[in-house]
Amino acid sequence: MWRSALLLVFLLLTSFCCGVCFECPEICRCSQKSITCNSATGSQKSLSRLVLNYISVKTISSRSFDGLKGVRRIEIAQSSSVETIESEAFNNLPNVSEISIQNTRNLVHIQQRAFNQLPKLRYLSISNTGISVFPDLTSIFSLEAHFILDICDNLNLRSVPSNAFTGMTSEYATMNLFNNGFQEIESHAFNGTKIDKLVLKNSRDLRVVHEDAFKGALGPTVLDVSSTALETLPSHGLESVLMLTARSAFALKKLPPLKSLKSLREAQLTFPSHCCALINWDNSRDGSVNSALRNRSSYCGDNSSPADLSAISSDDSLESDVIGSSSVEDTFGSIDFHYPDLDLCQQRQALQCSPEADAFNPCEDIAGFSFLRVAIWFINILAIAGNLVVLLVLFTSRCKLTVPRFLMCHLAFADLCIGIYLLMIATVDLRTRGHYSHHAIEWQTGAGCDIAGFLSVFGGELSIYTLSTITVERWHTITHALRLERRLGLSQASLIMTIGWLLCLAMALLPLIGVSSYSKVSMCLPMDIETPLSQAYVILLLLFNVGAFLVICGCYVCIYSAVRNPEFPGRAADAKIAKRMAVLIFTDFLCMAPISFFAISAAFKVPLITVTNSKILLVLFYPINSCANPFLYAIFTRAFRKDACILLSSMGCCQSKANLYRMKTYCSENINRSKSSSGSNANSKGPRAVMWMSSFPQLTPRPHIQRV
Ligand SMILES: *[C@@H]1O[C@H](CO)[C@@H](O)[C@H](O)[C@H]1NC(C)=O
Ligand SMILES: *[C@@H]1O[C@H](CO)[C@@H](O)[C@H](O)[C@H]1NC(C)=O
Ligand SMILES: *[C@@H]1O[C@H](CO)[C@@H](O)[C@H](O)[C@H]1NC(C)=O
Repeated sequence: MWRSALLLVFLLLTSFCCGVCFECPEICRCSQKSITCNSATGSQKSLSRLVLNYISVKTISSRSFDGLKGVRRIEIAQSSSVETIESEAFNNLPNVSEISIQNTRNLVHIQQRAFNQLPKLRYLSISNTGISVFPDLTSIFSLEAHFILDICDNLNLRSVPSNAFTGMTSEYATMNLFNNGFQEIESHAFNGTKIDKLVLKNSRDLRVVHEDAFKGALGPTVLDVSSTALETLPSHGLESVLMLTARSAFALKKLPPLKSLKSLREAQLTFPSHCCALINWDNSRDGSVNSALRNRSSYCGDNSSPADLSAISSDDSLESDVIGSSSVEDTFGSIDFHYPDLDLCQQRQALQCSPEADAFNPCEDIAGFSFLRVAIWFINILAIAGNLVVLLVLFTSRCKLTVPRFLMCHLAFADLCIGIYLLMIATVDLRTRGHYSHHAIEWQTGAGCDIAGFLSVFGGELSIYTLSTITVERWHTITHALRLERRLGLSQASLIMTIGWLLCLAMALLPLIGVSSYSKVSMCLPMDIETPLSQAYVILLLLFNVGAFLVICGCYVCIYSAVRNPEFPGRAADAKIAKRMAVLIFTDFLCMAPISFFAISAAFKVPLITVTNSKILLVLFYPINSCANPFLYAIFTRAFRKDACILLSSMGCCQSKANLYRMKTYCSENINRSKSSSGSNANSKGPRAVMWMSSFPQLTPRPHIQRV
């Protein structure tokens, strides 16, 4: 029993050991310190594959592998003891075609010329090691076509230095350099090489590929920079790239100038709008090439001289490039001239690009229609000017700060925010018109869009909140007209507005901290409803607006019925009050209803309108309140005009009228007098409600209380 158990343990141990322990290959001489496999030790036997797994030496010394004839493949793997590979360790191996050094985490030094004279080498892999200096590959001198280099999973490897691959091979090479700790690829890194495919993906710290990294190199034809932290690609050196992959490259917000990607046929990118830019550019380029083909079909078939072709090119290059100016050489590089058939006489394959534009980011400018571009300027100037005037007059007024005046300041400020938001959108639209998709990601993920989005949500919500407060205050004042102690005081109003500010700040800040987001659409509004939390946020925002609208409507209905009440003084002016209320509610409704309707449907993921068309609503309807409020609530009221006159008189205009106002007890709440002085209203005996409505913010029912 015990014996068989021991036997089992022994068997287990040995089988484990055979997997893990190093066995010296026949053609080598192994000791505790060194391992040597050269022409002397391997002369008798021949072995095509030399596997050195789990070796326990610290150093692979110079000339360890020297002149081996038969060996084609050398593998060093799974060793935790190898630390150094000395110079000329792999020296003069005429038949070796593959060398792989893998999973040696303690390997930190590969000395200069460690790989020396390997003419048949086709595959070199240095993966999952601890090296921190790029291995010297410049003395390999391979003559094989299709050299493949794998340098992967070396997390301490920080950069690719200049001339790193010079002398590696004279033929085209595939370079798989992924999952490394690269931060930088230096200038002239690929000098003197022909690159077929270059894969830099998953080097998550890679921020910089130097502008001249590809100087002196041919290729690459395939470039993969997925999952890197690159912010730009070099603007030259990519002329021969046929396929560009940049998935999950979220920092790559701007493509290089498109003319530098002139051979591109397939792109797999991170952002849809980049595809818009590429495909637009490709189509416009195609157009010019094809029309040239149609006009000069005689060029196809016979061998046209390069001189003629360059003449065509120079004609077309004027319109061939959407973005930026270009010289003839830049647009049609010398390679193109050698293959006229490819360029002019074959229908060029259309550029493939993914991801395609989605519903949120159609391929269009911010203002999708040109009439919107005009409208948005008109509206934002009106909103900014109107609200600035209101703020200026209210602040310079020397009258006592009343609750309505206080609320009016907040309303004007909130509406000013909307005006500034529209100004920002209009400016960006003007700057990027015609090629917005090229700048879309930069704008939408930048600070500008966050600020704009914040202003729009904060301003919009604060405006609605203040409007509701103003309406409630009016209703409250009317119903408690004669009871001073029940009226809203300034301190209570401040409290209400503080709560409003905090609420609106919170609502505007949420998208900045990850609940929904402003970067989903070019207008910078929180339209992101991907997660349930974002969806809940957007729905809450809309319900807040609808709720506020209902409160406003309800208050006006109450006010109206109170005013119609026979006991209420001054019901003669019903019609006028009704008209005025109708205007207020109608502008509110116009502003709120269409947007809320479509937005709520969209928030429940049944969009009834495209983003393109929603811009019409957003530009024309959303700011209605911001434009109209200063007029409806301030500029058109008599009290405000009085304030404005006083202000103007201090600057020298409007003297006589201002004096009139001063005479009539400036800041008086006695509307009867100011009304009769202005003489505009026939109801000079003044039903108070009419006074109240037409002379907001100085409320009519106050004369008993606040007479100066
Ligand atoms: C190795 O290369 C030599 C010439 O360098 C050649 O004579 C020999 O046949 C090759 N051996 C194998 C196994 O390919
Ligand atoms: C590029 O490589 C060539 C030789 O291939 C060399 O003469 C030149 O100095 C290198 N350029 C730079 C900037 O290192
Ligand atoms: C092609 O010919 C038409 C008229 O025949 C001309 O209007 C057009 O500009 C030409 N296009 C080019 C690219 O030369």
